[in-house]
Amino acid sequence: MKDDPLILGIESSCDETAAAVIRGRVLLSDEIISSASIQAKYGGVVPELASRAHTDAVDEVVARALARADVKKKELDAVAVTYGAGLLGALLVGLSFAKGLSYALGIPLIGVSHIRGHLAAAYLEDSSLEPPFVTLLASGGHTAVLYTESLTRFEVLGGTLDDAAGEAFDKVARVLSLPYPGGPHVEALAREGTNSVPMPKMLKGQGGYDFSYSGLKTYIINYVHTKEQRGEAWSRANLACSFQHAALDILVEKTVEAAREKGCGTVTAGGGVVANGYLREALQTACAHAGLRLVLPAKKRCTDNAAMIAAEGLIRYRAGEFSPLTLNACASVPLR
Ligand code: KG4
Ligand code: ZN
Repeated sequence: MKDDPLILGIESSCDETAAAVIRGRVLLSDEIISSASIQAKYGGVVPELASRAHTDAVDEVVARALARADVKKKELDAVAVTYGAGLLGALLVGLSFAKGLSYALGIPLIGVSHIRGHLAAAYLEDSSLEPPFVTLLASGGHTAVLYTESLTRFEVLGGTLDDAAGEAFDKVARVLSLPYPGGPHVEALAREGTNSVPMPKMLKGQGGYDFSYSGLKTYIINYVHTKEQRGEAWSRANLACSFQHAALDILVEKTVEAAREKGCGTVTAGGGVVANGYLREALQTACAHAGLRLVLPAKKRCTDNAAMIAAEGLIRYRAGEFSPLTLNACASVPLR
């Protein structure tokens, strides 16, 4: 087993077909072919269209990642691939491709949980990062605060009781007639507004580290419908800005609180919502204020990518945890 293996990561759980190559914790390439523009026409991801797009793109994206890294297939030490959670048909495309490579090249296959991949993105940002640390995970499917004790063990301190933060952004985007995926559009609109619309209270102390977004989402939907029914003037930008504050401030608050309670000096973050500029700044300010070191993955490694899958693959490789070629795709992988 090598100390700094050359690992190819493959990700195809949703609408991005991605491949990346790392040597140890050094990122050599990170390629994505996205079908988001096709999906945008339908206002969300159509599973069959995602699977077809992956089938068209997977060979190409892997070839690009190898070429950009200047690595030949036969030099690879392992192939890491997302096996879940995600759309089954989409996952199967990347997984089958990875199995083919593993078998043909005689190298280990490493099945990676997509969520653990989001957690591992921070390792690529700072090669000196080591546990323990507290992580804010906020994506389209999950919102959680986690405590990573060692490279392979983490504890879920709290999670979403209903909708995930990213899901709330996507649903609010829809009532504001913004395109899919909603997060970046809500963020752009929020920049033109002020935090001036009163929002419902978020689940605070009594909720521990758990989150709830369905109340906030319903409030926004009702607000828009009521204003429209009554023919009253209202500002889309102010509503987006106020929603963004309500949805994101609570994430920052609970993450910093968790680090304090755990007596842990480092905070990391991951998942698509962490690409949000307001959240990034708020995390930076709060962590600096609390004397915590913050390791924030680059924006493009917060949303779905294969570099994070390769990074988690490296942890599994070093732990000697390989997967059999019979590994199946899983639509859901429990966080806990
Ligand atoms: O991690 P990700 O790419 O996919 C999942 O694993 O779910 O996260 C996608 C989610 C979507 O809900 C998207 O609207 C949200 O992340 N997102 C954002 C931003 N960029 C992506 N939410 C808020 N602000 C953003 N800039
Ligand atoms: Zn994701």
